[in-house]
Amino acid sequence: MPVTTRISEVRNEISELSHATTSADDFMRKMVKLLPERMLKYNWVGFYMLEPGTQPPMLVLGAFTGAATPHTRIPLNQGICGAAASSGQMIVIDDVSRDPRYLACSLETKSEIVVPVFVHGKVAGELDIDSHFPSAFTAEDQDLVRYCAILTGKKLETSGQKV
Ligand code: SME
Repeated sequence: MPVTTRISEVRNEISELSHATTSADDFMRKMVKLLPERMLKYNWVGFYMLEPGTQPPMLVLGAFTGAATPHTRIPLNQGICGAAASSGQMIVIDDVSRDPRYLACSLETKSEIVVPVFVHGKVAGELDIDSHFPSAFTAEDQDLVRYCAILTGKKLETSGQKV
């Protein structure tokens, strides 16, 4: 089966999940379980959310699937995670060993994607995915992960999340 078909299937499953879950927390917990089950290159999948009211702002590890990470709290001036949250831009790293910003979670990680989650137009957190394979995140993967982040933002909005 071509990869494109499978990615579109996963996209549909994520869409169904967003309808089937009643809270943003439930959606995020189930998403981090579903994505690595369906996308075998996604070896660590998790959310970092901005802690409300903390100065300086801090990203705090939320729902995740994969190896335990020492990076449970990341300031905005550190890591790929901090760079994505502070710029509001998706960041795709094909070879983490070549990016001096990279904070290592697992020695096996070769590539990473981080996509901000927006709530009412402001960054509320991000979806972070690591792969044991170099250059794992193609344009189609980027679309899928962006879609997941958009649905998460919508779910947080409907559950009344303040930013
Ligand atoms: N690699 C991230 C840190 C998070 S762990 O990989 C799960 C970063 O550079 O910000």
